[in-house]
Amino acid sequence: MDHFEYRDGELFCEEVRIADLAAEFGTPLWVYSQNALLSNLREIQIAFADAEPVICYSVKANSNLSILKLMNEAGSSFDVVSGGELYRVQQAGGDTTRVAFAGVGKTDAEIRFGLESNILMFNVESEAELDAIAAVAGDMGVVAPVALRLNPNIDAKTHAKTTTGKKGNKFGIDIERASELAAKVLADGRLSLVGIHMHLGSPILTTEPYAMAVKKGVEIVNEFRAAGHDTNWINLGGGFGINYKQNEAPPAKAFADVIVPAIREAGCRLALEPGRFICGNAGVLISSVTFTKREGGKLFVIQDAAMNDLVRPAMYDAFHRIWPVKPAVEAPDDYEGEIPGCEPVDVVGPVCESGDVLAKARWLPETSRGDLICTFSAGAYGTTMSSNYNSRPRGAEVMVSGGTHRIIRRRETYEDLVANEMIES
Ligand code: LLP
Repeated sequence: MDHFEYRDGELFCEEVRIADLAAEFGTPLWVYSQNALLSNLREIQIAFADAEPVICYSVKANSNLSILKLMNEAGSSFDVVSGGELYRVQQAGGDTTRVAFAGVGKTDAEIRFGLESNILMFNVESEAELDAIAAVAGDMGVVAPVALRLNPNIDAKTHAKTTTGKKGNKFGIDIERASELAAKVLADGRLSLVGIHMHLGSPILTTEPYAMAVKKGVEIVNEFRAAGHDTNWINLGGGFGINYKQNEAPPAKAFADVIVPAIREAGCRLALEPGRFICGNAGVLISSVTFTKREGGKLFVIQDAAMNDLVRPAMYDAFHRIWPVKPAVEAPDDYEGEIPGCEPVDVVGPVCESGDVLAKARWLPETSRGDLICTFSAGAYGTTMSSNYNSRPRGAEVMVSGGTHRIIRRRETYEDLVANEMIES
């Protein structure tokens, strides 16, 4: 079931009219479908059930406390990459004993916070980090559970800025050094090597990279075991792609089919860190048209959401479907290319940068001042990457469930913008 759907000529989220939400809360406005969030998580839980995985929702994709609470209640754990994200998990009532803590630059304070929170494991990205974790654990008189984050040199064919599993990017430890560092852990009573971790990139639209990664992972775990480690966990990170355009992404089951048998055969525990798959298509960004103008032979639709709200198009040339909330032309199946009754427009925001574009030369029906526009698939890496650039207060976030809705983050005010600043009196 599609949780965002045009009915009677206008867009609904579940049973709620998007236009009613925009009237109540203003724009730009983030709208999430609770049932979409839960069914996306459930799709992964069901697909991977035979491996009894620990699913660590990747907090960086959308860290709103209400979403974290929902994930926790639905049986998900969490992948965090900072003390701030761990704090959010705690604030949402999450169980920190199943948290995976990743990130290339953990500070001593963050390592201590992780150990105090009794996390499941640190995904360790360098030898220097291993030393730092050992030192903090020694200081606290505890044994730190670590998983070596390996760079398997697999090309997951993602955007250059979001590929992580290829040699030469900053993540992980070269796979050739795995045994050497494992031996170091074995010799150190302050550390315990509980597993390995790999994250290949994001979003990934084919299953082959995972098939290759799990094969390499199992080989390494077997080597570690032969060398005397009690290594059980294979954490394959996140990265499962979603449909930004049409049906370009495989279902969770396709990923599970190449991962689960290998994990079971090796007798390993599986951890996953999906973010986008869970929240990407469960959220939209609603904006209002401020002006339209024809200049330089082009039609521009200037609306009140900008790159400070959703930076993905500016940063990665990412494609997001865009369509009016009450369109004059029925929403197409294929948003790329020419659409009858429409004309090509640049959908832009008010930020003072030429790159502040949500869509270029996109075929859209006619819109005018005040019309509502929906940018789809904005639930992941939308709010978490948003900023106050151009001193623009960030929009409100609303959660819809069936016919009800609740605000889960209020709109920022001008006072919020300056709240932490001081001037000499
Ligand atoms: N685990 C690790 C170690 C990661 O680095 C990431 C994402 C994930 C899990 C979650 O990946 P997901 O399942 O959400 O694809 N801002 C970019 C994406 C950056 C992803 C960074 N790491 C975007 O908007 O496309």
